[in-house]
Amino acid sequence: PDREPIPGPPGLPFLGNVADIDPENPIQSITNLTDTYGPIWKFQINGKQRVVIASQALMNELADEERFGKVVATALKQVRNGTHDGLFTAYGAEEENWGIAHRVLMPVFGPLHIRNMFDEMHDIASQLVMKWARHGSENVIQVTEDFTRLTLDTLALCAMDFRFNSYYKDEMHPFVQAMTAFLATSGGRARRGALNIFYRQESQKYWQDIELLRKTSREVIETRRANPTEKKDLLNAMLNGVDPKTGKKMTDDSVIDNMITFLIAGHETTSGMLSFVFYYLLKNPSAYDKAQQEVDDVIGNGPITADQLSKLPYINAVLREALRLSPTAPSIALQAKEDTVLGGKYAINKGELLVTVLAKIHRDPTVYGEDSEEFRPERMLDEEFEKRSKEFPNSWKPFGNGMRACIGRPFAWQEALLVTAMLLQHFNFSMEDPSYNLQIKQTLTIKPKGFYMRAHLRNHMS
Ligand code: HEM
Repeated sequence: PDREPIPGPPGLPFLGNVADIDPENPIQSITNLTDTYGPIWKFQINGKQRVVIASQALMNELADEERFGKVVATALKQVRNGTHDGLFTAYGAEEENWGIAHRVLMPVFGPLHIRNMFDEMHDIASQLVMKWARHGSENVIQVTEDFTRLTLDTLALCAMDFRFNSYYKDEMHPFVQAMTAFLATSGGRARRGALNIFYRQESQKYWQDIELLRKTSREVIETRRANPTEKKDLLNAMLNGVDPKTGKKMTDDSVIDNMITFLIAGHETTSGMLSFVFYYLLKNPSAYDKAQQEVDDVIGNGPITADQLSKLPYINAVLREALRLSPTAPSIALQAKEDTVLGGKYAINKGELLVTVLAKIHRDPTVYGEDSEEFRPERMLDEEFEKRSKEFPNSWKPFGNGMRACIGRPFAWQEALLVTAMLLQHFNFSMEDPSYNLQIKQTLTIKPKGFYMRAHLRNHMS
Protein backbone atom coordinates (compact mmCIF):
# COMPACT_ATOMS: atom_id res chain seq x y z
CA PRO A 1 0.00 0.00 0.00
CA ASP A 2 1.08 3.57 -0.65
CA ARG A 3 2.37 5.47 2.34
CA GLU A 4 1.83 9.18 2.68
CA PRO A 5 4.12 11.49 4.60
CA ILE A 6 2.58 12.97 7.76
CA PRO A 7 2.27 16.75 7.22
CA GLY A 8 3.40 19.38 9.71
CA PRO A 9 4.86 22.85 10.19
CA PRO A 10 8.39 23.15 8.75
CA GLY A 11 10.30 24.10 11.92
CA LEU A 12 13.86 25.29 12.45
CA PRO A 13 17.13 23.38 12.35
CA PHE A 14 18.01 22.05 15.85
CA LEU A 15 15.11 23.89 17.50
CA GLY A 16 12.36 22.09 15.65
CA ASN A 17 8.94 23.62 16.28
CA VAL A 18 9.57 25.47 19.57
CA ALA A 19 8.42 28.68 17.90
CA ASP A 20 5.11 27.13 16.84
CA ILE A 21 4.00 25.92 20.27
CA ASP A 22 3.18 28.43 23.02
CA PRO A 23 4.69 27.01 26.22
CA GLU A 24 1.99 28.73 28.29
CA ASN A 25 -0.82 27.13 26.31
CA PRO A 26 0.45 24.26 24.17
CA ILE A 27 -2.95 22.69 23.69
CA GLN A 28 -4.27 25.92 22.15
CA SER A 29 -1.33 26.07 19.71
CA ILE A 30 -1.83 22.43 18.82
CA THR A 31 -5.54 23.01 18.29
CA ASN A 32 -4.87 25.96 15.99
CA LEU A 33 -2.25 24.06 13.99
CA THR A 34 -4.75 21.23 13.59
CA ASP A 35 -6.97 23.65 11.67
CA THR A 36 -4.08 24.10 9.24
CA TYR A 37 -2.65 20.58 8.99
CA GLY A 38 -5.67 18.36 9.51
CA PRO A 39 -6.46 15.36 11.72
CA ILE A 40 -2.93 13.95 11.74
CA TRP A 41 0.27 15.98 11.71
CA LYS A 42 3.66 16.01 13.34
CA PHE A 43 6.00 18.39 15.07
CA GLN A 44 9.39 18.24 16.75
CA ILE A 45 10.44 19.52 20.16
CA ASN A 46 13.62 18.73 22.08
CA GLY A 47 14.72 16.61 19.14
CA LYS A 48 11.71 14.34 19.51
CA GLN A 49 8.94 13.86 17.00
CA ARG A 50 5.34 13.96 18.20
CA VAL A 51 2.33 13.00 16.12
CA VAL A 52 -0.94 14.82 16.77
CA ILE A 53 -4.20 12.88 16.41
CA ALA A 54 -7.42 14.85 16.03
CA SER A 55 -10.26 12.85 14.45
CA GLN A 56 -12.67 10.21 15.72
CA ALA A 57 -11.60 7.68 13.06
CA LEU A 58 -7.94 7.86 14.10
CA MET A 59 -8.82 7.94 17.83
CA ASN A 60 -10.85 4.82 17.23
CA GLU A 61 -7.72 3.06 15.93
CA LEU A 62 -5.66 4.32 18.86
CA ALA A 63 -8.22 2.95 21.32
CA ASP A 64 -7.21 -0.61 20.35
CA GLU A 65 -5.16 -1.72 23.34
CA GLU A 66 -3.58 -4.55 21.38
CA ARG A 67 -1.86 -2.00 19.16
CA PHE A 68 -1.48 1.09 21.39
CA GLY A 69 -0.90 1.89 25.04
CA LYS A 70 -0.58 4.82 27.43
CA VAL A 71 2.76 6.56 27.64
CA VAL A 72 3.94 8.52 30.66
CA ALA A 73 5.51 11.53 28.96
CA THR A 74 6.27 15.23 29.44
CA ALA A 75 4.57 16.68 32.54
CA LEU A 76 3.19 13.32 33.66
CA LYS A 77 6.70 11.91 33.72
CA GLN A 78 7.68 14.73 36.08
CA VAL A 79 4.61 14.14 38.27
CA ARG A 80 5.92 10.60 38.61
CA ASN A 81 8.72 12.03 40.79
CA GLY A 82 6.06 12.46 43.47
CA THR A 83 3.66 9.59 42.82
CA HIS A 84 5.92 6.87 41.34
CA ASP A 85 4.01 3.80 40.24
CA GLY A 86 0.70 5.13 41.60
CA LEU A 87 -2.24 4.53 39.25
CA PHE A 88 -1.98 7.69 37.18
CA THR A 89 1.79 7.77 36.65
CA ALA A 90 2.56 4.04 36.43
CA TYR A 91 4.05 2.88 33.15
CA GLY A 92 1.56 0.06 32.97
CA ALA A 93 0.63 -3.44 33.97
CA GLU A 94 4.32 -4.38 33.95
CA GLU A 95 4.57 -2.55 37.26
CA GLU A 96 3.09 -4.86 39.87
CA ASN A 97 1.89 -2.05 42.13
CA TRP A 98 -0.34 -0.70 39.36
CA GLY A 99 -2.11 -4.06 39.03
CA ILE A 100 -2.56 -4.51 42.78
CA ALA A 101 -3.89 -0.98 43.27
CA HIS A 102 -6.10 -1.25 40.18
CA ARG A 103 -7.75 -4.47 41.35
CA VAL A 104 -8.09 -3.35 44.97
CA LEU A 105 -9.52 0.03 44.03
CA MET A 106 -11.73 -0.61 40.97
CA PRO A 107 -14.65 -1.97 43.01
CA VAL A 108 -14.28 0.80 45.59
CA PHE A 109 -14.66 3.41 42.86
CA GLY A 110 -17.76 1.69 41.47
CA PRO A 111 -21.08 3.56 41.60
CA LEU A 112 -22.38 1.61 44.61
CA HIS A 113 -19.42 2.46 46.79
CA ILE A 114 -19.34 6.02 45.60
CA ARG A 115 -22.89 6.32 46.92
CA ASN A 116 -21.46 5.74 50.40
CA MET A 117 -19.57 9.00 49.96
CA PHE A 118 -22.72 10.98 49.21
CA ASP A 119 -23.00 12.44 52.72
CA GLU A 120 -19.42 13.65 52.72
CA MET A 121 -19.81 15.20 49.29
CA HIS A 122 -23.05 16.80 50.45
CA ASP A 123 -21.33 18.22 53.51
CA ILE A 124 -18.69 20.01 51.43
CA ALA A 125 -21.18 21.15 48.76
CA SER A 126 -23.43 22.64 51.46
CA GLN A 127 -20.50 24.67 52.74
CA LEU A 128 -20.13 26.19 49.29
CA VAL A 129 -23.83 27.06 49.12
CA MET A 130 -23.52 28.64 52.55
CA LYS A 131 -20.50 30.68 51.57
CA TRP A 132 -22.12 32.06 48.42
CA ALA A 133 -25.38 32.75 50.25
CA ARG A 134 -23.62 34.67 53.01
CA HIS A 135 -21.47 36.67 50.67
CA GLY A 136 -24.56 37.78 48.78
CA SER A 137 -25.13 38.85 45.21
CA GLU A 138 -22.79 41.85 45.50
CA ASN A 139 -19.88 39.49 45.72
CA VAL A 140 -18.03 38.57 42.55
CA ILE A 141 -17.42 34.83 42.61
CA GLN A 142 -14.04 33.55 41.49
CA VAL A 143 -15.59 30.53 39.90
CA THR A 144 -12.65 28.19 39.33
CA GLU A 145 -11.03 29.09 42.66
CA ASP A 146 -14.13 28.22 44.65
CA PHE A 147 -14.79 25.04 42.69
CA THR A 148 -11.20 24.03 43.31
CA ARG A 149 -11.71 24.52 47.05
CA LEU A 150 -14.78 22.31 46.74
CA THR A 151 -13.10 19.48 44.84
CA LEU A 152 -9.99 19.55 47.03
CA ASP A 153 -11.95 19.46 50.26
CA THR A 154 -14.20 16.70 48.92
CA LEU A 155 -11.28 14.53 47.85
CA ALA A 156 -9.37 15.09 51.05
CA LEU A 157 -12.40 14.14 53.11
CA CYS A 158 -13.27 11.08 51.00
CA ALA A 159 -9.76 9.84 50.26
CA MET A 160 -7.85 10.82 53.40
CA ASP A 161 -10.49 11.54 56.04
CA PHE A 162 -8.85 14.95 56.27
CA ARG A 163 -10.37 18.44 56.34
CA PHE A 164 -8.59 21.25 54.53
CA ASN A 165 -11.43 23.71 55.33
CA SER A 166 -10.50 25.78 52.30
CA TYR A 167 -13.57 27.96 51.86
CA TYR A 168 -12.87 30.72 54.30
CA LYS A 169 -9.16 30.94 53.78
CA ASP A 170 -7.25 32.85 51.15
CA GLU A 171 -4.16 31.03 52.20
CA MET A 172 -4.50 27.38 51.20
CA HIS A 173 -3.64 24.48 53.49
CA PRO A 174 0.13 23.66 53.41
CA PHE A 175 -0.60 20.31 51.74
CA VAL A 176 -2.51 22.08 48.97
CA GLN A 177 0.21 24.70 48.57
CA ALA A 178 2.84 22.00 48.26
CA MET A 179 0.75 20.07 45.75
CA THR A 180 0.00 23.12 43.62
CA ALA A 181 3.66 24.14 43.56
CA PHE A 182 4.72 20.57 42.82
CA LEU A 183 2.35 20.40 39.83
CA ALA A 184 3.36 23.79 38.45
CA THR A 185 7.04 22.92 38.73
CA SER A 186 6.43 19.52 37.13
CA GLY A 187 5.04 21.37 34.11
CA GLY A 188 8.02 23.74 34.04
CA ARG A 189 10.53 20.92 34.31
CA ALA A 190 8.88 19.09 31.43
CA ARG A 191 9.14 22.17 29.21
CA ARG A 192 12.77 22.88 30.08
CA GLY A 193 14.21 19.40 29.69
CA ALA A 194 18.00 19.41 30.15
CA LEU A 195 18.02 23.05 31.26
CA ASN A 196 16.67 21.98 34.67
CA ILE A 197 20.19 21.85 36.08
CA PHE A 198 20.14 25.67 36.07
CA TYR A 199 17.11 25.74 38.39
CA ARG A 200 18.75 24.58 41.60
CA GLN A 201 16.64 26.48 44.09
CA GLU A 202 13.46 25.53 42.37
CA SER A 203 14.57 21.90 42.37
CA GLN A 204 15.27 22.01 46.07
CA LYS A 205 11.80 23.37 46.79
CA TYR A 206 10.32 20.76 44.42
CA TRP A 207 11.74 17.83 46.37
CA GLN A 208 10.79 19.47 49.67
CA ASP A 209 7.20 19.81 48.46
CA ILE A 210 7.14 16.15 47.52
CA GLU A 211 8.47 15.27 50.97
CA LEU A 212 5.76 17.35 52.65
CA LEU A 213 3.04 15.61 50.61
CA ARG A 214 4.38 12.20 51.54
CA LYS A 215 4.95 13.02 55.18
CA THR A 216 1.40 14.34 55.58
CA SER A 217 0.02 11.25 53.86
CA ARG A 218 2.07 8.98 56.08
CA GLU A 219 0.67 10.73 59.16
CA VAL A 220 -2.86 10.21 57.85
CA ILE A 221 -2.15 6.47 57.59
CA GLU A 222 -0.70 6.36 61.10
CA THR A 223 -3.65 8.25 62.53
CA ARG A 224 -6.09 5.81 60.93
CA ARG A 225 -4.10 2.81 62.16
CA ALA A 226 -4.15 4.24 65.67
CA ASN A 227 -7.89 4.97 65.43
CA PRO A 228 -9.41 2.23 63.29
CA THR A 229 -12.98 2.75 62.05
CA GLU A 230 -15.47 0.70 60.07
CA LYS A 231 -15.83 3.50 57.55
CA LYS A 232 -16.07 2.33 53.98
CA ASP A 233 -13.84 5.03 52.64
CA LEU A 234 -10.95 5.00 50.20
CA LEU A 235 -8.37 5.03 52.98
CA ASN A 236 -9.71 1.87 54.63
CA ALA A 237 -10.04 0.24 51.23
CA MET A 238 -6.40 0.95 50.47
CA LEU A 239 -5.13 -0.11 53.90
CA ASN A 240 -7.18 -3.28 54.24
CA GLY A 241 -8.01 -4.37 50.69
CA VAL A 242 -6.52 -7.59 49.34
CA ASP A 243 -5.77 -8.07 45.66
CA PRO A 244 -7.79 -11.12 44.53
CA LYS A 245 -5.15 -12.05 41.95
CA THR A 246 -1.93 -11.99 43.99
CA GLY A 247 -3.35 -12.10 47.52
CA LYS A 248 -1.20 -9.06 48.30
CA LYS A 249 -2.11 -5.81 50.00
CA MET A 250 -0.99 -2.40 48.84
CA THR A 251 2.29 -1.36 50.46
CA ASP A 252 2.32 1.82 52.57
CA ASP A 253 4.31 3.57 49.85
CA SER A 254 1.74 2.58 47.27
CA VAL A 255 -1.08 3.87 49.51
CA ILE A 256 0.78 7.18 49.82
CA ASP A 257 1.40 7.35 46.06
CA ASN A 258 -2.27 6.81 45.34
CA MET A 259 -3.57 9.12 48.05
CA ILE A 260 -1.58 11.96 46.47
CA THR A 261 -2.61 10.71 43.03
CA PHE A 262 -6.34 11.03 43.80
CA LEU A 263 -5.89 14.59 44.91
CA ILE A 264 -3.84 15.46 41.85
CA ALA A 265 -5.92 13.60 39.26
CA GLY A 266 -9.27 14.51 40.77
CA HIS A 267 -9.26 18.14 41.85
CA GLU A 268 -8.51 20.32 38.82
CA THR A 269 -10.29 18.04 36.37
CA THR A 270 -13.54 18.12 38.33
CA SER A 271 -13.29 21.78 39.28
CA GLY A 272 -12.61 22.70 35.64
CA MET A 273 -15.61 20.67 34.53
CA LEU A 274 -17.89 22.51 36.98
CA SER A 275 -16.52 25.86 35.82
CA PHE A 276 -17.17 25.03 32.17
CA VAL A 277 -20.66 23.76 33.05
CA PHE A 278 -21.57 27.13 34.54
CA TYR A 279 -19.90 29.05 31.72
CA TYR A 280 -21.83 27.16 29.05
CA LEU A 281 -25.11 27.33 30.96
CA LEU A 282 -24.80 31.09 31.39
CA LYS A 283 -23.96 31.51 27.71
CA ASN A 284 -26.96 29.38 26.71
CA PRO A 285 -30.04 30.61 28.60
CA SER A 286 -32.41 28.01 27.20
CA ALA A 287 -30.16 25.19 28.42
CA TYR A 288 -29.85 26.99 31.76
CA ASP A 289 -33.63 27.19 32.11
CA LYS A 290 -34.11 23.54 31.25
CA ALA A 291 -31.48 22.47 33.77
CA GLN A 292 -33.00 24.57 36.53
CA GLN A 293 -36.51 23.41 35.66
CA GLU A 294 -35.34 19.81 35.96
CA VAL A 295 -34.00 20.52 39.45
CA ASP A 296 -37.27 22.16 40.47
CA ASP A 297 -39.33 19.26 39.09
CA VAL A 298 -37.25 16.42 40.48
CA ILE A 299 -35.87 17.86 43.71
CA GLY A 300 -38.04 20.83 44.57
CA ASN A 301 -37.21 22.73 47.75
CA GLY A 302 -36.07 19.91 49.99
CA PRO A 303 -32.66 18.35 50.60
CA ILE A 304 -31.22 16.40 47.67
CA THR A 305 -30.95 12.63 48.02
CA ALA A 306 -28.56 10.22 46.31
CA ASP A 307 -31.51 8.60 44.52
CA GLN A 308 -32.53 11.85 42.89
CA LEU A 309 -29.16 12.22 41.21
CA SER A 310 -29.95 9.39 38.81
CA LYS A 311 -33.15 11.20 37.77
CA LEU A 312 -31.53 14.26 36.22
CA PRO A 313 -31.09 13.28 32.55
CA TYR A 314 -30.79 16.82 31.28
CA ILE A 315 -28.10 17.86 33.76
CA ASN A 316 -26.33 14.60 33.02
CA ALA A 317 -26.31 15.61 29.36
CA VAL A 318 -25.09 19.10 30.27
CA LEU A 319 -22.05 17.59 32.00
CA ARG A 320 -21.31 15.37 29.02
CA GLU A 321 -21.67 18.26 26.59
CA ALA A 322 -19.40 20.53 28.66
CA LEU A 323 -16.71 17.83 28.71
CA ARG A 324 -17.17 17.29 24.97
CA LEU A 325 -16.39 20.92 24.12
CA SER A 326 -13.93 21.46 26.95
CA PRO A 327 -12.36 18.18 28.07
CA THR A 328 -10.56 19.28 31.21
CA ALA A 329 -7.88 16.63 30.72
CA PRO A 330 -7.24 17.94 27.22
CA SER A 331 -5.10 15.15 25.85
CA ILE A 332 -4.00 11.60 26.49
CA ALA A 333 -0.61 10.39 25.27
CA LEU A 334 -0.28 7.02 23.59
CA GLN A 335 2.33 5.00 21.72
CA ALA A 336 2.31 2.13 19.27
CA LYS A 337 3.45 -1.23 20.62
CA GLU A 338 4.98 -2.13 17.23
CA ASP A 339 5.69 -0.21 14.03
CA THR A 340 2.29 0.28 12.43
CA VAL A 341 0.20 2.17 9.90
CA LEU A 342 -2.57 4.59 10.86
CA GLY A 343 -5.53 5.53 8.67
CA GLY A 344 -4.32 3.01 6.09
CA LYS A 345 -1.42 5.23 4.99
CA TYR A 346 0.57 6.93 7.75
CA ALA A 347 3.59 5.07 9.07
CA ILE A 348 3.98 5.24 12.86
CA ASN A 349 7.08 3.98 14.63
CA LYS A 350 6.95 1.90 17.75
CA GLY A 351 7.25 4.12 20.82
CA GLU A 352 6.69 7.41 19.00
CA LEU A 353 4.65 9.87 21.07
CA LEU A 354 1.06 10.20 19.85
CA VAL A 355 -0.72 13.25 21.26
CA THR A 356 -4.51 13.14 21.06
CA VAL A 357 -6.40 16.44 20.94
CA LEU A 358 -9.63 15.52 22.67
CA ALA A 359 -11.39 18.84 21.99
CA LYS A 360 -10.89 18.30 18.25
CA ILE A 361 -11.87 14.63 18.32
CA HIS A 362 -14.98 15.75 20.23
CA ARG A 363 -15.88 18.27 17.52
CA ASP A 364 -15.33 15.99 14.56
CA PRO A 365 -18.07 17.13 12.14
CA THR A 366 -18.43 13.65 10.64
CA VAL A 367 -19.63 12.55 14.08
CA TYR A 368 -21.28 15.62 15.57
CA GLY A 369 -22.48 17.37 12.41
CA GLU A 370 -22.40 20.96 11.30
CA ASP A 371 -23.19 22.36 14.74
CA SER A 372 -20.35 20.44 16.40
CA GLU A 373 -18.93 23.68 17.86
CA GLU A 374 -22.18 24.55 19.60
CA PHE A 375 -23.24 23.74 23.15
CA ARG A 376 -26.36 21.63 22.71
CA PRO A 377 -26.91 19.23 25.64
CA GLU A 378 -29.86 17.54 23.87
CA ARG A 379 -27.41 15.61 21.69
CA MET A 380 -25.97 14.05 24.84
CA LEU A 381 -29.24 12.63 26.23
CA ASP A 382 -28.90 8.88 26.78
CA GLU A 383 -30.62 7.63 23.66
CA GLU A 384 -28.73 9.76 21.18
CA PHE A 385 -25.50 9.42 23.15
CA GLU A 386 -25.66 5.64 23.09
CA LYS A 387 -26.67 5.47 19.45
CA ARG A 388 -23.74 7.68 18.51
CA SER A 389 -21.29 5.67 20.63
CA LYS A 390 -22.26 2.58 18.61
CA GLU A 391 -22.06 4.29 15.24
CA PHE A 392 -18.88 6.21 16.06
CA PRO A 393 -17.04 4.41 18.84
CA ASN A 394 -14.52 6.46 20.81
CA SER A 395 -16.00 9.76 19.73
CA TRP A 396 -16.23 10.96 23.38
CA LYS A 397 -13.10 10.24 25.44
CA PRO A 398 -12.81 12.79 28.26
CA PHE A 399 -11.99 10.00 30.72
CA GLY A 400 -9.27 8.34 28.66
CA ASN A 401 -9.06 4.83 27.30
CA GLY A 402 -9.36 1.17 28.25
CA MET A 403 -7.43 -0.19 31.21
CA ARG A 404 -5.85 3.22 31.81
CA ALA A 405 -9.12 5.13 31.74
CA CYS A 406 -10.10 7.28 34.70
CA ILE A 407 -10.86 5.31 37.85
CA GLY A 408 -12.47 8.39 39.43
CA ARG A 409 -15.21 8.88 36.85
CA PRO A 410 -18.18 7.83 39.02
CA PHE A 411 -16.73 9.90 41.85
CA ALA A 412 -16.41 13.00 39.69
CA TRP A 413 -19.83 12.42 38.16
CA GLN A 414 -21.69 12.10 41.43
CA GLU A 415 -19.94 15.15 42.81
CA ALA A 416 -20.63 17.26 39.71
CA LEU A 417 -24.31 16.23 39.49
CA LEU A 418 -24.80 16.99 43.16
CA VAL A 419 -23.07 20.36 43.07
CA THR A 420 -24.72 21.52 39.84
CA ALA A 421 -28.16 20.54 41.10
CA MET A 422 -27.65 22.08 44.51
CA LEU A 423 -26.41 25.37 43.11
CA LEU A 424 -29.26 25.67 40.60
CA GLN A 425 -31.69 24.83 43.36
CA HIS A 426 -30.50 27.61 45.63
CA PHE A 427 -29.34 30.38 43.32
CA ASN A 428 -29.92 32.26 40.14
CA PHE A 429 -26.60 33.02 38.55
CA SER A 430 -25.46 35.80 36.30
CA MET A 431 -22.22 36.36 34.47
CA GLU A 432 -20.20 39.19 35.98
CA ASP A 433 -19.32 40.43 32.50
CA PRO A 434 -22.06 39.31 30.07
CA SER A 435 -19.76 39.94 27.12
CA TYR A 436 -17.13 37.54 28.48
CA ASN A 437 -16.07 34.92 25.96
CA LEU A 438 -14.25 31.77 26.89
CA GLN A 439 -10.52 31.96 27.33
CA ILE A 440 -8.48 28.99 28.43
CA LYS A 441 -5.81 28.67 31.05
CA GLN A 442 -3.77 25.51 30.76
CA THR A 443 -1.78 23.77 33.46
CA LEU A 444 -1.96 19.98 33.53
CA THR A 445 -5.62 20.57 32.81
CA ILE A 446 -7.64 23.34 31.20
CA LYS A 447 -10.01 25.77 32.89
CA PRO A 448 -11.77 29.02 31.97
CA LYS A 449 -9.59 32.08 32.53
CA GLY A 450 -11.12 35.25 33.96
CA PHE A 451 -14.63 33.81 34.34
CA TYR A 452 -16.59 35.41 37.20
CA MET A 453 -20.24 35.21 38.20
CA ARG A 454 -22.70 36.35 40.83
CA ALA A 455 -25.12 34.26 42.85
CA HIS A 456 -28.59 35.55 43.76
CA LEU A 457 -30.48 33.52 46.35
CA ARG A 458 -33.76 32.27 44.93
CA ASN A 459 -36.92 33.53 46.59
CA HIS A 460 -38.28 30.17 47.54
CA MET A 461 -35.22 29.67 49.71
CA SER A 462 -35.42 32.87 51.70
C1 HEM B 1 -7.00 8.82 34.74
C2 HEM B 1 -9.88 12.43 33.26
C3 HEM B 1 -11.64 12.88 37.78
C4 HEM B 1 -8.40 9.61 39.33
C5 HEM B 1 -7.64 9.75 33.95
C6 HEM B 1 -7.45 9.91 32.53
C7 HEM B 1 -8.23 10.93 32.12
C8 HEM B 1 -8.96 11.41 33.28
C9 HEM B 1 -8.35 11.47 30.70
C10 HEM B 1 -6.47 9.11 31.65
C11 HEM B 1 -5.09 9.75 31.74
C12 HEM B 1 -4.09 9.19 30.77
O1 HEM B 1 -4.42 8.45 29.85
O2 HEM B 1 -2.90 9.51 30.95
C13 HEM B 1 -10.61 12.86 34.36
C14 HEM B 1 -11.63 13.87 34.31
C15 HEM B 1 -12.15 13.99 35.57
C16 HEM B 1 -11.41 13.05 36.42
C17 HEM B 1 -12.04 14.66 33.06
C18 HEM B 1 -13.24 14.86 36.10
C19 HEM B 1 -14.15 15.43 35.38
C20 HEM B 1 -10.93 12.02 38.60
C21 HEM B 1 -11.15 11.85 40.02
C22 HEM B 1 -10.20 10.95 40.45
C23 HEM B 1 -9.43 10.54 39.30
C24 HEM B 1 -12.21 12.56 40.83
C25 HEM B 1 -9.97 10.38 41.85
C26 HEM B 1 -10.84 10.33 42.80
C27 HEM B 1 -7.76 9.13 38.21
C28 HEM B 1 -6.73 8.10 38.27
C29 HEM B 1 -6.32 7.85 36.95
C30 HEM B 1 -7.12 8.75 36.11
C31 HEM B 1 -6.21 7.41 39.54
C32 HEM B 1 -5.30 6.83 36.48
C33 HEM B 1 -5.97 5.49 36.28
C34 HEM B 1 -5.02 4.40 35.82
O3 HEM B 1 -4.27 4.61 34.88
O4 HEM B 1 -5.05 3.31 36.42
N1 HEM B 1 -8.57 10.67 34.39
N2 HEM B 1 -10.49 12.40 35.65
N3 HEM B 1 -9.90 11.21 38.20
N4 HEM B 1 -7.97 9.49 36.91
FE1 HEM B 1 -9.30 10.87 36.27
